[in-house]
Amino acid sequence: MIEGVFSKRTLRDAKVEPGQTALARVDFNVPLERGHVADDTRIRAALPAIELLRERGARLVLCSHLGRPKGRDPDTSLAPASECLRELLGGGVYQAPEVIGPEVRRGVSRLEPEEVLVLENTRWEPGETRNDPELAREMAEPADLFVNDAFGAAHRTHASTVGVTRYLPAVAGPLLEREVRTLSAVIESPERPLVVILGGAKVSGKIELIDRFLDLADVLLIGGAMCFSFFRAQGLATGNSLVEAEDVEPARRVLLKAEGSNCRLVLPVDLVVAESFDAAAPRREIDDTAVPEGWMGLDVGPRTREVFAGEIVAAGTVFWNGPMGVFELEPFAAGTRAIAEAVAAADGMTVVGGGDSAAALTKFGLADRVTHLSTGGGAALELLEGKPLPGVEALDDA
Ligand code: 3PG
Repeated sequence: MIEGVFSKRTLRDAKVEPGQTALARVDFNVPLERGHVADDTRIRAALPAIELLRERGARLVLCSHLGRPKGRDPDTSLAPASECLRELLGGGVYQAPEVIGPEVRRGVSRLEPEEVLVLENTRWEPGETRNDPELAREMAEPADLFVNDAFGAAHRTHASTVGVTRYLPAVAGPLLEREVRTLSAVIESPERPLVVILGGAKVSGKIELIDRFLDLADVLLIGGAMCFSFFRAQGLATGNSLVEAEDVEPARRVLLKAEGSNCRLVLPVDLVVAESFDAAAPRREIDDTAVPEGWMGLDVGPRTREVFAGEIVAAGTVFWNGPMGVFELEPFAAGTRAIAEAVAAADGMTVVGGGDSAAALTKFGLADRVTHLSTGGGAALELLEGKPLPGVEALDDA
């Protein structure tokens, strides 16, 4: 696998003495269902960092956000995540009732080497998203070392991702390092051809990414609801398909730029349409992309699946972000399934951005068939757009 450059100090290189305390920022922002972790991918992804610290006899304090609470909110407690971690490690994991304060200090002081204390949701503290230095100082206080392994939150300038680095030696965990190296390789040194598949609903949210890939990629395949903004910009009928008015102009600019670029932009050539957004709705395949009045496009059609899959299997490097259709509903899942299968079958390096495409790969049982499945949504996209990630920048240089 090709790897990009990583210029920060890493946990592997850091000195950790037995009995020292490490504060590790992890991304335990996981989906919950009835008070339990519904998908533990992000918790498992933090295990190598946790194991590295335990092997060295460290005492571990883990911190993370979960959801976007505006203050203390029991529905977003880290307790289900720490319960899941306890099962994975076979014990030695405790849940603190706060992020900072006397109870946390007491909990840390009682930790034995290799034991883990999980702090409460960092976003229960109003200072977290403001990157409040006082909160950061108090979080750092009991620790000897800060390890950032929360790649998914590396694009946030928060007290637990950036603030704490002012008070402690700060190194990258193995997950964060691998994410940065792999995603950087996609844009810095891809094996050619570089084929990028983008889907999902909104063009405007991904415009910088599309723009950048028009400069870097050899082929850009666009599916998902966002293709209707392109069709509208081309003057095609889109029926009741999802088109955000604000997306049409950016789509027009992308089409113009693509004409003069070395990147081949490929849009769907056929569609699956339905009368409404419903698995039971009347549905049909149309052999072109002009959506009839009263119908909406909910997936790409069979010819598009074939064209896209052909490009993917011939790629040296593949990057995929965003579903091709409403894959949660079986009648509209074939497009996304075809892409997932082609990515899994490709011989080149295959990298999948987090969020919906990760969920799709998991649903189709193909998550372990790609070179790298990113745990980051926004963070992965910002890195690929060429933006610096504050949580990475703040770490000590190698
Ligand atoms: C994510 O799920 O992408 C990360 O955990 C970041 O979450 P946020 O968008 O709420 O900061």
